[in-house]
Amino acid sequence: MTADSTVPPQRTLVDEMRRLAAGLAIEDRVRLLTGATAWTLHELPSIGLRSLAVSDGPIGVRGTGDSLPSAQMPAPSAMAATWDEDVLGALGVLMASEARRKQVDVVLAPVVNLQRTPVGGRHFECFSEDPVLTGRMAVAFVRAVQGAGVGACVKHYLGNESETDRTSYIARIDRRTLREVYLAPFERVVLDAGVWTVMAAYNGLDDGTESAPATEHHGLLTSILKQEWGFEGLVMSDWQATKSTDESALAGLDLVMPGPGGPWGEALLAAVRSGRVPESAVDDKVARVLAVAQRAGALSGRPGQVEPYRVPGGLPGPDAPAVRGLLRSVAARSTVVLRNENAMLPVAADAVRTIALIGDNALDPFVQGGGSAHVVPPHQPDLPAALREAFPTAEVTAHPGGATRRHIPLALYDVVPGGFKVRALDAAGAVLEERHHDAPWDGWVRAVPTGTAEVTVGADLRLAEPGRHVVELCVVGAHRAYVGQDLVSASDHRAGSEVVLDGSAGHPAGTSHPVDVASPATVPVTATLQVVDAAGFGRFARLEVRYRPPSKAPADDELTAAVQAARAADLAVVVVGTNPEVESEGWDRRDLALPGAQDELVRRVAAANPRTVVVVNAGAPVLLPWLDEVPAVLWWWLPGQEGTGALADVLVGAVEPGGRLPWTLPASAEDVPVPDAVPVDGVVHYTEGTDVGHRAWDRLGHSPAREFGFGLGYEAWEYGEVRAGAWSDSAGVIVTVEIANVADRPSREVVQVYLEPPAADPRRPVRWLGGFTGAEVAPGERASVQVAVPPRAFQVWDEDGPGWRTPAGRYRLRAGRSSRDLRVTTVVDVPPT
Ligand code: BGC
Repeated sequence: MTADSTVPPQRTLVDEMRRLAAGLAIEDRVRLLTGATAWTLHELPSIGLRSLAVSDGPIGVRGTGDSLPSAQMPAPSAMAATWDEDVLGALGVLMASEARRKQVDVVLAPVVNLQRTPVGGRHFECFSEDPVLTGRMAVAFVRAVQGAGVGACVKHYLGNESETDRTSYIARIDRRTLREVYLAPFERVVLDAGVWTVMAAYNGLDDGTESAPATEHHGLLTSILKQEWGFEGLVMSDWQATKSTDESALAGLDLVMPGPGGPWGEALLAAVRSGRVPESAVDDKVARVLAVAQRAGALSGRPGQVEPYRVPGGLPGPDAPAVRGLLRSVAARSTVVLRNENAMLPVAADAVRTIALIGDNALDPFVQGGGSAHVVPPHQPDLPAALREAFPTAEVTAHPGGATRRHIPLALYDVVPGGFKVRALDAAGAVLEERHHDAPWDGWVRAVPTGTAEVTVGADLRLAEPGRHVVELCVVGAHRAYVGQDLVSASDHRAGSEVVLDGSAGHPAGTSHPVDVASPATVPVTATLQVVDAAGFGRFARLEVRYRPPSKAPADDELTAAVQAARAADLAVVVVGTNPEVESEGWDRRDLALPGAQDELVRRVAAANPRTVVVVNAGAPVLLPWLDEVPAVLWWWLPGQEGTGALADVLVGAVEPGGRLPWTLPASAEDVPVPDAVPVDGVVHYTEGTDVGHRAWDRLGHSPAREFGFGLGYEAWEYGEVRAGAWSDSAGVIVTVEIANVADRPSREVVQVYLEPPAADPRRPVRWLGGFTGAEVAPGERASVQVAVPPRAFQVWDEDGPGWRTPAGRYRLRAGRSSRDLRVTTVVDVPPT
């Protein structure tokens, strides 16, 4: 008996659970199919089932209601920029450990939607624009999470490449594109990683044969996922995505999230009783829930005995040295060198006496994107401190260089020394609860007591200097808000869960109010706020109090001051980028420009100091019109809790920034093949077909600023001989590439192999990624790197024929450093089958 044969195959487990399900009362069975709360499922002590807990998401485990900090990882696009499955594996193990610490059974990650357009709002949450890179990263991550006994949930199935009108649009994708591109990473994660759960998306899908919301799409959920791929896990809906009872239940959805409430429950019970939904369908869903519970150790199987959540002792928290070290190393390794003239980087720690650190994002780095991926990190980023540590003999000064945000900053402690008094009132105006928040306060009032009808907020602003102060109030839902006696902001419109889905609860619009004082004064801010009942997203009230003093320098003056500081320094480090107003779940970006006057800032600083390094702090592409005019440019991503130390490591060369772009960086907005994410008449039509990302750039012959796969690292490489092994129907082809590290430090190269078809074919991309392998090579050494290109890389989906088919002929295999820096070529002959 081999070791493997002792593990029951999934099918056995689900079959076993079907038998268990069939013995339960129909009411119990149906109840298990809707969440109990926003993040938990129902327990059923009669069979020893405890409540399962799920939690977001791709950069860490937020938890189900505690306020304990979480390990905050670099954004998934940064993870993918490592092109390193071992890194994804290490992060997956950390994710599982965080899930256990937070008593979570299933982590709502990874996102394997593709970066179809650079303006996509959740671009930073996706790995890549490429289906092969995405699939490989996701498989490594899921295997590691699940290998540690925690479930993963691959999402959002399918066609959730836009955020605009995400709960209603239909993605129109032809069946060939669906198979070859958008289903591909899901297929890998189901078949190669055995993912426990899949999340059905908000949007709908029209594949030419069926047009339906993803939660009701029989073809997607049953025909492809469960029947063809044999998926024996659980399909849950995205949060509040399910709109129907019979259609979704019959299509193959297994679990409605969140709960309580929603379209199943009593309505599903009635559908079963009337015979519209067969009981066997319910049993299948319940069996899938129970199978996940069994795997998670949540099902004792002993009536009346509910296993408590088992947390092994000694789990490291997000501040543990091993966790910090891992996150710091990944953030450094994912950083992409876009330009490094005359090997300006790295900078020896003792080579500079003064460093001018410049930029809004230098003072307030954007380390995580907005939306459901958000976690509370153990500490706030402090880039000046990180640089002072890395350059111990240098003087580091910090300069904002001009504001880049639409909103002014949250009011700080010195303006609101007494903090904020928050009261929950019942309908009669009686105080149910009183809370206090120190400034700065993010303005969220969550978990209000039952019976709360409205919330009041009061604070005294200390205006310490004469002049014009500006107070900005950003509020969600119906409210009245005053500064002094002035009614500054008011609305009678009562908000619901739409404000969570469209992101406006996280980023409320603001009203600015000038306050002129001739001498120091204290001015009260008072507000009465609606309690928003956002169904499964919870009940909350929200008011942000933002403030700007009269003495705040105008942006122009700040920019000039930064340029002066740069001129006087040995080294200028300018950090430009996006911010939470730009990159978030809930909306798509309107353009690719850096916000504010950051382009001007870079140009003027670089003109003032020839030793200027520009660091781009963004998850998704932004236009860098000065890219080839400044000496050194690094892409730093949304780097997570250890990003600042990682950047310091990169600057001094303690770690090589070995990242390669997992997407294409456009040079101009006009060149972008898919420039927007906006549905037309409710439809997002994927007219580019299989030409996603770099494939479209190649088809159109457009020149990006930096191409897919690009990254200079700190070293130089030579490519030698390339050989293709013999073709094998089961294994594809192994391509062997000789490379040499011709520089003076160890380095990691990512050898990328792209395929070109036997003959130009308008239905196949001009060139596509077939495989890649990373190799660490010592200075002056050579390496023989083997890149496996699997059979699927050669296949096409024949809609009218047998499905997958391998067109015969001579394929060109081109290996190199990026999708455009192809150094060597060989061929493989694929015989007719
Ligand atoms: C997002 C999902 C997330 C869920 C729960 C939804 O709005 O689309 O990715 O897992 O909320 O937070």
